[in-house]
Amino acid sequence: MNDETKQKINERYERELNKGERFWPDSIFKDLIVSLGLFVLLIILATFVGVPAEPKADPSDTSYLPRPEWYFLFLFKFLAIYGQIPVLGKIEWVATVVIPGVAVGLLTLLPFIERRPDRHYVKRILPISIMIIMVVGIVLLTLTSEVPTVAADGSKLLGILQAVSGLVIPTLAYILLVSMPYIFKSSDRSMVATSMGVTTGLACVLMIVISTVVLVLHSKSVAQEAETAVEEPIVATTLVDQIVAGQDLYAVNCTECHGEDGSVAVIEGVEGLEGEEITPINSKDVLYTITDSAMYEVIAYGRPNAGMTPFGKAYGGELSKSEIDYMITFMRYMWDDRFEAPKIKPLFPALVDGEVPSYDVHIQPIVKRYCVSCHRAGKTNNNYLMTSYEEILTTGDNADKNIIPGDETSYLLQVIQEQPIMDPEKPDEEMIRVMPLTNPLKPNVVDVFIRWIMNGMPQTAEDAAKLSVTPTPAP
Ligand code: HEC
Ligand code: HEC
Repeated sequence: MNDETKQKINERYERELNKGERFWPDSIFKDLIVSLGLFVLLIILATFVGVPAEPKADPSDTSYLPRPEWYFLFLFKFLAIYGQIPVLGKIEWVATVVIPGVAVGLLTLLPFIERRPDRHYVKRILPISIMIIMVVGIVLLTLTSEVPTVAADGSKLLGILQAVSGLVIPTLAYILLVSMPYIFKSSDRSMVATSMGVTTGLACVLMIVISTVVLVLHSKSVAQEAETAVEEPIVATTLVDQIVAGQDLYAVNCTECHGEDGSVAVIEGVEGLEGEEITPINSKDVLYTITDSAMYEVIAYGRPNAGMTPFGKAYGGELSKSEIDYMITFMRYMWDDRFEAPKIKPLFPALVDGEVPSYDVHIQPIVKRYCVSCHRAGKTNNNYLMTSYEEILTTGDNADKNIIPGDETSYLLQVIQEQPIMDPEKPDEEMIRVMPLTNPLKPNVVDVFIRWIMNGMPQTAEDAAKLSVTPTPAP
């Protein structure tokens, strides 16, 4: 600092001093008034507006995603973006401690580093530029904090764009700004100032444009997801309805691996998982340790590493949120001894002597519960589909042998009683293939199938009634 400027500053200080107003008590008094006002405002807000309480914390919930308050969201987002960097991303403390630490440290030390007396903004381009980029970055990171770095379909585009606007551009801009004085060593200072201004402006515009693109892309995919989620096929309102809906969904989606009652400990008859040992999901080990929300996560996201595919729509599965909830309700009420199961209608009305069952009343609910999980489109199982009356009668590699009216050797009757049948690809060999039913069917279920086929497979209740021979009451 040369003497002339020192002189000037001292003169100005004297002038201000003479104009009046002392720090104590004048300034302090003003401060007091303002802080009292803020305090009163806070009390009024707390009394009349308040902040809603969050739900009570559940310490056993493993699926809880902690999120910071909004004013820390930018740091949270920064950490997520930083985590994408190949090697460095693994060293978390660099992003959580070192970088914020250096930033705060520099701010604290600023008065000691930047000791020039000039206060006019034209003469302070570098610190102002650094601050502008930082503030713009913080605002943008906060705005994009809801956007995931990996989209539901596995696309990384959003993450890369966010890394460019939140990390790459600011870093490059800082490097450029700091090296500006060396680049333009010989030329005049206004040149340096102009280039700094241009760099800052360009960096900010780029960051804003890229973040806007990120937000637009994200809102589009969210809208798309909402569209596909609109169709909620089953709406079950009562507890019993929910349990029944859940049981049907469970039967179709889960029996294959976990068994009709969740008791499977060794998977059988599932390609790729043959002989896999699993924890029975009807056991206390699972039911007592997994909360409903964690169970939801398991079903929606699956256990891809263990061979259980995702079922939730958000992860590429077929089930909506409420469908998964119904299954959880079913599992809780039927298997978890801490819940008392309400009375549920039997799967099909019991048959009396001589009564012939129909597809509509008896076979359909049985097939849906016990067979469709393996016999539907997308599963091989000899191409035998069982989702409709026609399919049951006509599909399959052995369509002519599966169901023969009045014939006890129909393949269907054999496989459900665990009799081996012929492999259609090797017709000459011994009968070798046994259908891998996870649990033997109950005798009354087998009985329904036998009576149905022996009496020519009636579809409707009326057709079945015509065939029934109800015993005539004794005179
Ligand atoms: C293709 C086979 C398969 C299907 C279908 C399947 N799962 Fe799984 N499931 C597994 C495997 C394998 C595991 C891992 C088991 C283990 O680690 O003990 C598993 C684990 C689970 C677990 C966690 C158990 C634990 O010990 O943490 C639950 C709960 C579960 N499945 C429920 C379901 C439900 C509900 C469905 C139907 C929507 C379903 N699964 C469908 C194979 C399957
Ligand atoms: C765990 C999966 C699974 C379940 C559940 C299941 N099946 Fe099968 N089913 C198979 C497989 C696998 C085959 C092929 C057997 C073979 O030849 O290797 C098969 C074959 C059949 C066949 C012979 C088809 C043909 O063309 O050879 C009939 C009939 C059949 N199942 C009926 C049923 C009925 C009825 C139920 C319900 C009570 C049922 N299945 C439940 C897996 C299953």
